[in-house]
Amino acid sequence: MRVPFIDLKRSIEPVREQILADWTRCLDHTEFVSGPTVQKLEKELGRVLEAEHAVACANGTDALIIGLQALGVKAGMRVAVPNMTFWAPFEAIAQIGAEPVLVDINPDDLQMDFEEFKRGHEKYRFGAAILVHLLGWTSTRLGDFRKYCKEEGIHLLEDGAQSYGVRYHGESVYTGAEVSTISFYPAKVLGAAGDAGAMFTPNPKLAEVIRALGNHGRAGHYTYDYVGWNSRMGGIQASFLLRMLEQIDAMIDSRLQAEAYYKEFFDAYPQYGRVYTAPEGITGNGYLSVIQSHKVSGDDLAARLRDAGIGCARTYPQTLCEQGPSQGCLRTSDLQHSQRFSRMVINLPLFAGITREECEASAQALLQAFEAL
Ligand SMILES: Cc1ncc(COP(=O)(O)O)c(C=O)c1O
Repeated sequence: MRVPFIDLKRSIEPVREQILADWTRCLDHTEFVSGPTVQKLEKELGRVLEAEHAVACANGTDALIIGLQALGVKAGMRVAVPNMTFWAPFEAIAQIGAEPVLVDINPDDLQMDFEEFKRGHEKYRFGAAILVHLLGWTSTRLGDFRKYCKEEGIHLLEDGAQSYGVRYHGESVYTGAEVSTISFYPAKVLGAAGDAGAMFTPNPKLAEVIRALGNHGRAGHYTYDYVGWNSRMGGIQASFLLRMLEQIDAMIDSRLQAEAYYKEFFDAYPQYGRVYTAPEGITGNGYLSVIQSHKVSGDDLAARLRDAGIGCARTYPQTLCEQGPSQGCLRTSDLQHSQRFSRMVINLPLFAGITREECEASAQALLQAFEAL
């Protein structure tokens, strides 16, 4: 049996006709940049993610750049970022001329390590930090991060690109953040039909600044309060996302069932690896199947899985400190936990609509790879 790593068509199929009708309406009304459907989406996102103000934008990377700028992050400021994450947070910091400082992950929850973050601040005096809610959950120390950053005057931007639906002690992760972001890249838990993103804040003044920054810093049509960006969404993406939102609970449920299957399966083989899921107190969204191999490298496992017809990924095969542009960056330790995890991680197929048979075939193939190597 061949299993794809991801199959987006399965979430599109149930709402395909409605999407086509919506897109026809967008064409008829030339709703290409901003407009009423984007406004409707912002309202709906604010409601479901329990965030007071939501502002749509062009992608999750722009959301980070705009978020940093809205929080007052300036060129030269030191900004902490976890060493294990997608490259975009590093880019966002660098693009506004600030200085990324790499912080290791905690090996238990795989998120930026709070104790190391504090030590790093004592040494380097962070002006800001990007806390990434990574892999489908968030830090068990999220409350401590927020409190500490407030006390120390560190601007905290929360990257929720991967965390649609994640809850921390019962509360949406987007609720308690001063500014947070999301990505609607198609493979995300809530994905668009192209690139798209959004920013959230409970602060109405910040929401205005964020909205202006994503629209050329505009005050009026040809008057400007800021040097901003062009990062707007149009009706095509907004209407697609609204259709996906109609079925998002079932989509997340399907992801969580697959995640639970893999966990139960591999918990019986602790000698081979560890399956990570949301830690206690956190509700995960099943974004990825996260398996850390104990002995065999993730690359070797991935090669075997591919030979067996099982799609897989390695999120992330290398950390930020191993990339060319990050050489010479400040770091708060030897970053060993993130680098070790990256060498050993393997992700099995996991997407909305994956079948039980596909999960079984994927798990069996990985077990065979463990046994053979
Ligand atoms: C943690 C994280 N931050 C930021 C981004 C950037 O989002 P986008 O691809 O929408 O620009 C992504 C994903 O793509 C991500 O996973």
